[in-house]
Amino acid sequence: MTTNTISWESKSKGAKPAKNETHTAYWQSEAHNPPPKRVHVIDDTLSADAAYKLACEGNAMLWSGDFQNAKHLMQAISRRIDNRFTKPKAVKAANQAERSNESSPQAQFHLHRKNQIERARTLGMLLVELSSDYALPYNRAPDVKAACESAYGVIKNGVEKKNIVVSLRELLGVIGAYEWRKNGVDIEALNAKITPYYGVYSPLRGEYINLVATAPIAPSVKTAFDIGTGTGVLAALLAQRGVANVVATDTNPRAIKCATENITTLGLTKTVKIAEADLYPEVGRADLIVCNPPWIPASANSPIDHAIYDPNNQMLKGFLNGLVGHLNPKGEGWLIISDIAEHLGLRTREALLAMFVAAGLTIIDKLDIKPTHAKTQDKMDALYAARAKEVTSLWRLKAAV
Ligand SMILES: C[S@@+](CC[C@H](N)C(=O)[O-])C[C@H]1O[C@@H](n2cnc3c(N)ncnc32)[C@H](O)[C@@H]1O
Repeated sequence: MTTNTISWESKSKGAKPAKNETHTAYWQSEAHNPPPKRVHVIDDTLSADAAYKLACEGNAMLWSGDFQNAKHLMQAISRRIDNRFTKPKAVKAANQAERSNESSPQAQFHLHRKNQIERARTLGMLLVELSSDYALPYNRAPDVKAACESAYGVIKNGVEKKNIVVSLRELLGVIGAYEWRKNGVDIEALNAKITPYYGVYSPLRGEYINLVATAPIAPSVKTAFDIGTGTGVLAALLAQRGVANVVATDTNPRAIKCATENITTLGLTKTVKIAEADLYPEVGRADLIVCNPPWIPASANSPIDHAIYDPNNQMLKGFLNGLVGHLNPKGEGWLIISDIAEHLGLRTREALLAMFVAAGLTIIDKLDIKPTHAKTQDKMDALYAARAKEVTSLWRLKAAV
């Protein structure tokens, strides 16, 4: 839990003449945003237009009304953000961009990311206050204690008791993630459920798992590494496919906890060891090394972004460059990656192939699959053109002789 604080003033109730009271609370932001400097205490009487204007001008709004109305206000602000892109001025700018080279897939991706970030910033201006034991002091508010404890941890004894201020958007994300954690994600290839944690890449896209479930594993393969294990899903699959010793790494402490829980629940603790490590385990080599890195080379703005965006292909190159030095003789590396970055103009196929060569690797085979998740069908999705062409591949690599 954070130790950053946020302060704001409100009119004291009943005092005549009215006096300002100063309040301080812990500031919680998953994206490590600094606490806002200007905080207005607002309630159900503020119109959505006025709230939207305040947010656009960089004013945070601490909610003091009915909780369900705060959710309605957030939806109303969200609609105003959407409308911003369909207003005549925005449409004219989009048309101009289409006529210039700004309409390249790369430019569209960067515009999409810019809009996503701006949207998150504007919606993030609506704040709610939690008590020091994660209770929401609002009418019609849900019980969020268990969800907050699973995302942020149990508040330890001895920590100074203070209320916590968090954006409503983040809190709704925490609540949603807790539902997934309670229900689990069905993994057909494992014939079991995987429990995802808040802030850990969730294996909702099944297609890459099917590649790992069907790629050939020689009987001589006894040891494997799963680099960037997330929920532990691929490590579990390798163990279930008969690999006797699997070491799974991640740099995200939440992923380490999450993978440990999944491996324990699946009864695979004798076969799979989880280690917090940057890419490769500290010692040892393996017959098979699997890695599903983030697929898009772009900057990451929040911790969960690090599972989706790989700035400058850092993890991809780190995995490839370390492969030869960590494989046993005749060992195999499996890179799982989609070509979405190629369709977005962010990485060429030639550049990927050149990375293999630079790392001293040669291709044994490439297994392909078409993704089937909902966004591939959604023509309204900003990246639809790229998603419609996307192919996910498992590249089987070995040391070049
Ligand atoms: C796309 S997710 C894949 C998760 C999981 N293997 C799967 O297939 O569902 C990438 C994972 O790599 C982890 N990661 C990012 N950089 C890493 C690094 N340098 N070393 C180890 N893990 C890393 C992220 O925390 C994330 O869990």
